[in-house]
Amino acid sequence: MEAIEQRPIINETLKTIAHRRSIRMFSDQPVSDEAIGTILQAANQAPSAHNQQSWRFIVIRGNKKRELVELVNSKAAQFPKASSVLLRMASRSIASAPAVIAVINTGELIEHGTHLFNMASEQAYDFFRTMEIQSSAAAVQNLLLAATSLGLATVWLGILFLIKDEVLELLGEPKGEFMAVIPVGYPSKMTKGPEKRPLETIVKYLD
Ligand SMILES: Cc1cc2nc3c(=O)[nH]c(=O)nc-3n(C[C@H](O)[C@H](O)[C@H](O)COP(=O)(O)O)c2cc1C
Repeated sequence: MEAIEQRPIINETLKTIAHRRSIRMFSDQPVSDEAIGTILQAANQAPSAHNQQSWRFIVIRGNKKRELVELVNSKAAQFPKASSVLLRMASRSIASAPAVIAVINTGELIEHGTHLFNMASEQAYDFFRTMEIQSSAAAVQNLLLAATSLGLATVWLGILFLIKDEVLELLGEPKGEFMAVIPVGYPSKMTKGPEKRPLETIVKYLD
């Protein structure tokens, strides 16, 4: 089979995918409850293994957001340079965003799956945990794309995984598994973002 050309199909969905960029600083413009509801609805439409939908979304604003900024800043000093710089950057993004959404895995798929497979082995745990993480990652991507489609900006902050226990405690989700923290707001300025690798370097066609 010949390599598929990068064809110029253009529609609104593809435009949204192409326009999504990680934006790390936000303007003062508030984000409406309606917009937050819309992007959460989109996140909740994601596919999930065994249709377990084992995700939870925590919307963080006001005082709780300030507490999160303080937590991230205070913990940053305990890490070596690269990670402490990223944690500080993350705290600035959280501080500047009018709203932040945390995505948490509930562990329901792991529980359901190991029961269904009637095996409590390490392999079953590893399998269902991976499926749960992948399902929630699909939800996160839906959320990012829905936000982009509304003119909102986001950044997926994975670095807070380094302080996940403290973050989950602060959010009142101590039993959950940390997936992502996502500041949401209107961009203070749009950036082009990094170039993606050319398809010919990452795609292999087999026939
Ligand atoms: C799992 C994951 C974790 C990420 N964690 C961070 C992070 O902690 N801090 C950050 O600034 N960006 C983070 N990003 C955003 C990436 O840096 C960004 O997606 C990448 O540089 C490509 O840029 P783009 O999103 O504009 O295409 C993360 C992205 C993913 C998918």
